[in-house]
Amino acid sequence: MQTVKMNNGVEIPILGFGTFQITDPQEAEQAVINAIQAGYRHIDTAQSYMNEEAVGRGIANSGVLREEIFVTTKIWVENVSYKGVKSSFQRSLDRLGLDYVDMLLLHQPYNDVYGAWRAMEELQEEGKVRAIGVSNFAVDRAVDLAEFNKVTPQMNQIEISPFHQQTKNIAALKEEGIVPEAWAPFAEGKNDIFNNEILTEIGKKYNKSVAQVIVRWLVEQDIVVLAKSVKPERMAENLDVFDFSLTDEDKAAIATLNEGESQFFSHADPAMIKWMASRKMGI
Ligand SMILES: NC(=O)c1ccc[n+]([C@@H]2O[C@H](COP(=O)([O-])OP(=O)(O)OC[C@H]3O[C@@H](n4cnc5c(N)ncnc54)[C@H](OP(=O)(O)O)[C@@H]3O)[C@@H](O)[C@H]2O)c1
Repeated sequence: MQTVKMNNGVEIPILGFGTFQITDPQEAEQAVINAIQAGYRHIDTAQSYMNEEAVGRGIANSGVLREEIFVTTKIWVENVSYKGVKSSFQRSLDRLGLDYVDMLLLHQPYNDVYGAWRAMEELQEEGKVRAIGVSNFAVDRAVDLAEFNKVTPQMNQIEISPFHQQTKNIAALKEEGIVPEAWAPFAEGKNDIFNNEILTEIGKKYNKSVAQVIVRWLVEQDIVVLAKSVKPERMAENLDVFDFSLTDEDKAAIATLNEGESQFFSHADPAMIKWMASRKMGI
């Protein structure tokens, strides 16, 4: 699997398996086993997905050595403080059944991100996490965090899809040495993406699906891609993107799909910040 090298030298497999919304424990464990058997070596979970235990069991029962799998989890908003990171990270490790994770992210840009970041720097120094980063940070906030702390985030996991291409933000993150990672690359199926005419026509030329065209389009930009599916045949399909290339014409056509805004919600919306703050999950 192709990797992307982060600013501390740690390499991350460019394709990762997402586990958001796979909450049934048996389904989550089986999905992780199937994903690893399909060839994924990068699994993305989070405290708020409420599936860290099942994901950990899937990794343990996959038949592949833990060291060969890149595991990411994320700190939920209520735990975003110096003490909150220290204590909740240990709970995450316990649930996952691991003694380190490959990457730890601040899930949302809210609460005491500076205190939390210093705790994450310490966890990294202690060898409990190999890479640290953020998620859903606007570029200015990511740069601010980088400029006023010891460690520049290795990663910013953000929504990137053909409908929300974030071209300028991606360039700015790369400029700062922060790797962009795409969540919801298929916009979770919104906007009838899997039947999109432009993406379907491009796929036909290479005998590839819409999903494969999207993953390929991201890989060609050196963006780490998280795709989620509970179906083994789709897991395999979403990995099978290394035997074709998009032309400049294809990329120009995909550029026309950009709507320039989130398919979900804005992280700068005060109502959303209030909702996130109120979401006490006890994790
Ligand atoms: N940091 C954040 O705030 C954040 C937010 C959202 C997501 N994420 C991460 O990013 C990952 C991916 O995002 P996501 O799960 O929200 O959405 P996504 O990957 O864009 O879309 C998942 C949907 O697409 C379907 N699908 C997958 N492959 C397909 C294919 N080849 N053909 C047709 N349908 C296909 C899946 O259905 P089936 O499962 O039925 O196949 C599922 O309904 C998450 O799982 C999570 O790890 C992070």
